[in-house]
Amino acid sequence: MSVHSQEDNRKVTTHRLYEMKERGEKIAMLTAYDYSMAKLIDQAGTDVILVGDSASNVMAGNVTTLPITLDQMIYHGVSVTKAVNRALVVVDMPFGTCSGNPTESLNAAIRIMKETGADALKIEGGKEVIEDIRKIIDAGIPVMGHLGLMPQSINKYGTYTVRAKDEAEAKKLYEDALLLEETGCFGIVLEKIPAEVGRRIASKLRIPIIGIGAGNGVDGQVLVMHDMLGITQEFSPRFLRRYANLQETIINAVGHYVSDVKDKSFPSDNEQY
Ligand code: KIV
Repeated sequence: MSVHSQEDNRKVTTHRLYEMKERGEKIAMLTAYDYSMAKLIDQAGTDVILVGDSASNVMAGNVTTLPITLDQMIYHGVSVTKAVNRALVVVDMPFGTCSGNPTESLNAAIRIMKETGADALKIEGGKEVIEDIRKIIDAGIPVMGHLGLMPQSINKYGTYTVRAKDEAEAKKLYEDALLLEETGCFGIVLEKIPAEVGRRIASKLRIPIIGIGAGNGVDGQVLVMHDMLGITQEFSPRFLRRYANLQETIINAVGHYVSDVKDKSFPSDNEQY
């Protein structure tokens, strides 16, 4: 059962996201990578479910998002779309599949759309990948941009610190955001930037701006599901609000099960045939 007040069970579309921005209704977005969690996240009223390449970190245990492959993203995408009825499902294009060769990028984009049944794709980068993005959008595939801290470029930055703090980087970020809107992106994720920069971009652009560490002046928020549920505990940036401590809950429950097995109290007479 949903805990949010909204009773609108219609499928979320890119058009409905524009309408939400226009009427000032904030957009709630979360990541999911598997069938069971995606089902719960959809039932709870999340507007956009992102099959993020953060699967590389939280599902596969990699240090960065770079190792995850196109086939692995498709595997996660298929699992999520099977579970979701209402939310718009967006799949990340993984590192190396959209980097300056528009024909190859389009082929990867078509594979994700055909094989997963997702509603849209997300692509990191601005001017540098704009021809790739244009070709994908021209083929009828909705694209969400991703600017600010771009985890696929972590080796270039060398740090996960806040982006666009200086004037020059904030100007480039703004220009890239405008370019993405002009090229036809239906929304943009802004990651880890000053709240004032996020507010300014959201107020100038017509398309929804979704923030992760971009303050409360943007049109919606996204968090990584494992972080907000407290399954992961080692990652604690200022922008992360934890809504549960599932790490503790799971360790306690599993510890209880292990001790029940060891002391032979599980299964009981009622739990056997
Ligand atoms: O992969 C991901 O989870 C993301 C979010 C951090 C926006 O891109």
